[in-house]
Amino acid sequence: MENFTYHNPTRILFGRGQIAGLAQEIPAGARVLLLAGGGSIRANGVHAQVRTALGDRVVQEFWGVEANPDYDTLMRAVELVRRERLEWILAVGGGSVLDGAKFVAAAAGHAGDPWEILTSAGAKATGALPLAAVLTLPATGSEANAAAVISRRAWREKLFFIHPSVFPRCSVLDPETTFSLPERQVANGIGDAFCHVLEQYLTHPADAAVQDEFAEGVLRILVREGPRTLAAPRDYAARANLVWAATWALNGAIGAGVPQDWATHMIGHELTALHGLDHARTLAVVLPSLLEVRREAKRAKLLQYGERVWGLREGSAAERVDAAIARTRAFYESIGLPTTLGAHGIPVSTAPEVARRLAARGMTQLGERGEVTPAVVEAILRRAA
Ligand code: NZQ
Ligand code: ZN
Repeated sequence: MENFTYHNPTRILFGRGQIAGLAQEIPAGARVLLLAGGGSIRANGVHAQVRTALGDRVVQEFWGVEANPDYDTLMRAVELVRRERLEWILAVGGGSVLDGAKFVAAAAGHAGDPWEILTSAGAKATGALPLAAVLTLPATGSEANAAAVISRRAWREKLFFIHPSVFPRCSVLDPETTFSLPERQVANGIGDAFCHVLEQYLTHPADAAVQDEFAEGVLRILVREGPRTLAAPRDYAARANLVWAATWALNGAIGAGVPQDWATHMIGHELTALHGLDHARTLAVVLPSLLEVRREAKRAKLLQYGERVWGLREGSAAERVDAAIARTRAFYESIGLPTTLGAHGIPVSTAPEVARRLAARGMTQLGERGEVTPAVVEAILRRAA
């Protein structure tokens, strides 16, 4: 395993009724921007709980952050922060609202053009306003990481940035706030978290026992608790396990010091930018085909994954590799996430376009060993037709 620095500064308040704890987390007297999406938090009572916890602090609300949060929308929130001299950002919603809040927090005090925060992947970020979150959709891990993904529809772009200043100071994870999720979003969350684990695990062996066995544990939990919570959406125990598993899938712990392969996400972001597909649905399309195309490079880990996550012990190595990939594809299909472009009506002509777009961003060597070139990207998407 490589040397690493591991530091996750986000305090987690987990469980029923924990929104009330915001009263202690955000300083009394702070001027707060409450950032929200399209209205789900009003319908399910989360907004009322948040306002109670905030008491008599000065609060400005900004509604309308979209799924795949849009740059132009968020820049209006930045203007509000500047005009009203707001000091804290509170995100209440899913990953899109949290990511949007991170961008607003980083952009509000940014001296240059905030777009450069995204085009530099965070290298040009200089700091951020303090940020807290109430997460209502288990999926992205945004509640406990320093990443955000922002779309700019006007330019058909979707870019990420990472900067330590945007770790939430505190995140509330009350599984009951997720009971109102439509089945489609619960499934998206399971599929996203599953992919996050695989992209930090399914590379090549690094003799990292803690990271590997944690990752395998989280994968087994998603395979077991995912369908359980889909079948019984108001079962608190099942949903609580999904919420906590999704956080661990992308809070930095399983990825510390090990090779990583974010090619599926990078390709997926292009599919969202071009075709508007839900984030998790892009991953379900790309991941199984990526594993098929990259099966030799990932052979040792595919065998380990097959055995420890899917119990595959019979047959030749080649058969077990096949079976591990087939199980992955079947898992996505079983939770309602199609694994082909065709299922979404997307033509295979998108394959060279995605490859070209990634190349134009300098992403010509994706994957754990830089072997996912534009030609490989195209082959993966042709296979996903
Ligand atoms: O807008 P509202 O009305 O709140 O409705 C949302 C939205 O329509 C709804 N929703 C959320 N919580 C709900 C609820 N509906 C009912 N009850 C609730 N409790 O769900 C819809 C989707 O929400 P969204 O936040 O977009 O979903 P998700 O959490 O999957 O976030 C996806 C975004 O996160 C990015 C993706 O690229 C995408 O833009 N990602 C962020 C990452 C990170 N920060 O580390 C990593 C991920 O890989 C991902 O790329
Ligand atoms: Zn994701």
